[in-house]
Amino acid sequence: CGTGRINKFNHLEIGGCDAVELAKEFGTPLYVMDENHIRENCRLYRDSLNNLHENSEVIYAGKAFLTMEMCKLIEEEGLSLDVVSGGELYTAIKSGFPSKRIYFHGNNKSYAELEMAAEYGVGRIVVDNFYELELLRDVAKKYQGKKIKILLRLTPGIEAHTHDYIKTGQLDSKFGFGMENGHAFMAVENALSIKGLKLMGFHCHIGSQIFEDEPFKDAAKIMIQFAKIVNERYDFRTREIDFGGGFGIRYTEKDKPLAVKNYIEVLVESVKEACKKHNMPIPKILIEPGRAIVGEAGTTLYTIGSIKNIPGVRKYVSVDGGMSDNIRPALYGAEYSAVIANKAGCPREEIVSIAGKCCESGDMLIWDINLPKIMPGDILAVFTTGAYHYSMASNYNMMPKPAVVFVKNKTARLVVRRQTYEDLLSNEVFMPNSKNISL
Ligand code: LLP
Repeated sequence: CGTGRINKFNHLEIGGCDAVELAKEFGTPLYVMDENHIRENCRLYRDSLNNLHENSEVIYAGKAFLTMEMCKLIEEEGLSLDVVSGGELYTAIKSGFPSKRIYFHGNNKSYAELEMAAEYGVGRIVVDNFYELELLRDVAKKYQGKKIKILLRLTPGIEAHTHDYIKTGQLDSKFGFGMENGHAFMAVENALSIKGLKLMGFHCHIGSQIFEDEPFKDAAKIMIQFAKIVNERYDFRTREIDFGGGFGIRYTEKDKPLAVKNYIEVLVESVKEACKKHNMPIPKILIEPGRAIVGEAGTTLYTIGSIKNIPGVRKYVSVDGGMSDNIRPALYGAEYSAVIANKAGCPREEIVSIAGKCCESGDMLIWDINLPKIMPGDILAVFTTGAYHYSMASNYNMMPKPAVVFVKNKTARLVVRRQTYEDLLSNEVFMPNSKNISL
């Protein structure tokens, strides 16, 4: 799983860089992102989609991993960008990302965020609910002359997560306009009635880390059928349909995602088939992969510290990070594969469990993994940590966030510096001798 090879010193190598040297140079915990791997993924998604349907676009879901350097990479690879907050939008704008290629998501965008989006002229606002439409009515008034292009987010009644896939009414979702209860049609009517808004089409996102093709087939059928009805009922032309992200990747050998081409083929063919059935033109097809672009390109390096052996029970091996840099095992029961970076080619000879250093028993990164004999000071490399790791990192236990390096062709460059203790206190307002101020 993940990225990397073994060099002549029996060390893990990522992007041509010796992982042990990276740990020495930049310290640990360290997020290492293989730049070529990310770029290859961008091209694979872009080309696979484009080859099957020219009128298409791949939008990278920035929530998976976002820095200004990442925005630049995405820009260079010709992808668009999905942002979900004022903060992500700010990051994109500061990096010089073309605003027309930004898609703004979220189920509770504030007036200030929507204003910011209008001010910068983002490409699309993906409207989630009726309250947002009302806010946009005011924003549109203020920005007269600037047509605000929108998509409406719908809940097509499909929920797919990893191995499970259910078709339900799925009215009970915090996201989007329900199709079941007619809200989706009401939203279309509202959107079409608001001067200053231009409805371009529809969006759905059916889940994350999906391994099957059936949910995508169904999403295509349902969305196209909806578009057909809207086109006829409102004398409208659905120009775009965005099918969200969710394409699965490999964390351990248990994970068996489809090949990228298969996911895309299934989606595009199903859209085409449904359009044929309903005798309607094929709209622009958009997808929003996040995890699939960066997940497997990331590796986290840790230094091993204390080792506690409870004979006959378990050997706990602690690392210098944990749930503060990877919340996924604690939050989702996520599983990972790993190697000892300085013993990468050595035989695996003991089963250990990898513990984080945060102050709670639930902070375990990997249960029962077979590794070579471990010593304090060894470097552990945990694979597939490129998506939802840096972006979900916290300062729990006042742990400074790790640095991020991009590696490529034997060179490493720092993209985010490690937080310092001073950074941790930088927002505190602390006046040792101050008196309380009554308000
Ligand atoms: N588009 C929308 C509207 C989304 O909500 C998401 C993910 C994506 C695209 C990208 O999905 P992806 O291709 O990355 O699966 N923190 C969780 C994942 C949450 C995903 C939320 N939405 C995790 O660590 O597994």
